[in-house]
Amino acid sequence: MIDASSAGDDVTDTSAWLPDQTTWVPAETDTTRPSAARVYDFLLGGGHNFAADRAAAARIEQVLPNARRVARSNRAFLRRAVRFMAEQGITRFLDLGSGIPTVGNVHEIARDANPESRVVYVDFESVAVAHSRLLLDGDERTAVVEADLTDPGTVLADPAVRALLDTDEPVGLLLVAVFHFVPDHGDPAGLVGRYLSALPAGSLAAISHLTADFDAEGMAQVAETMANSPNPMFFRPFDRVAPLFAELDLVEPGLVDADLWRPEPGVTDPDGPARGVYAGVGRVR
Ligand SMILES: C[S@@+](CC[C@H](N)C(=O)[O-])C[C@H]1O[C@@H](n2cnc3c(N)ncnc32)[C@H](O)[C@@H]1O
Repeated sequence: MIDASSAGDDVTDTSAWLPDQTTWVPAETDTTRPSAARVYDFLLGGGHNFAADRAAAARIEQVLPNARRVARSNRAFLRRAVRFMAEQGITRFLDLGSGIPTVGNVHEIARDANPESRVVYVDFESVAVAHSRLLLDGDERTAVVEADLTDPGTVLADPAVRALLDTDEPVGLLLVAVFHFVPDHGDPAGLVGRYLSALPAGSLAAISHLTADFDAEGMAQVAETMANSPNPMFFRPFDRVAPLFAELDLVEPGLVDADLWRPEPGVTDPDGPARGVYAGVGRVR
């Protein structure tokens, strides 16, 4: 079992859910290079990461001291966005780039509102996929798909995704903290459009995106740290994140710092918003 004890005061050791490391580390996993899914897991206090991931996270924290705050801020946005969608009556969710399961997974939040909620998780990282499958084994209202979200044709043709979308009911599309892994030539806005075109009107899409707007130097070094990983990063300023919502009607409060997106009443950080990730939710026309 990997030791997450060095992960800080707010550790939520999800490794306790599973008995044995060998059950969640697929043979093809490259543990010698950091992966975005596992570095993020570490920053959130999870236990599904390796020495290379922890070394990358340590370097990131050196150059970006609020890295954990930014990670938590993004994850908290995801939770609030799912809750908002559920309150709007959404019971079907497609989570693209879903990551390693951690506290407050999409199906858990959605089912607080409606126990019948269905979720399809999609990721291309082997540990994220393996751990999701272990956690959700036997759960007939969830599916885990191993696929590259930059290939919408393959994702949308997957039987589990087709079954989820084979309805006139609105869908909750989650594209949370994924597009900063897509270079400009990968056409992030075009990808959003491809997915939206598969959804009925009234569906909702949540998108978040890391930015260097508030710490250009620190984020340049974060990008450098991940440059030779399988997940190089491409941060974008506000005016290049906003076009991701071009085909959506933004709901209030629009595209804002993740901490400022419908914060829970009474929950304010004395240090102010984390300032590292833009987030918003839009409605499909
Ligand atoms: C920072 S994590 C975000 C996880 C989750 N969406 C959240 O916000 O808490 C990014 C995830 O996106 C996945 N990812 C990045 N690029 C991807 C791609 N092209 N296809 C599928 N998954 C991808 C990574 O493997 C990782 O699990």
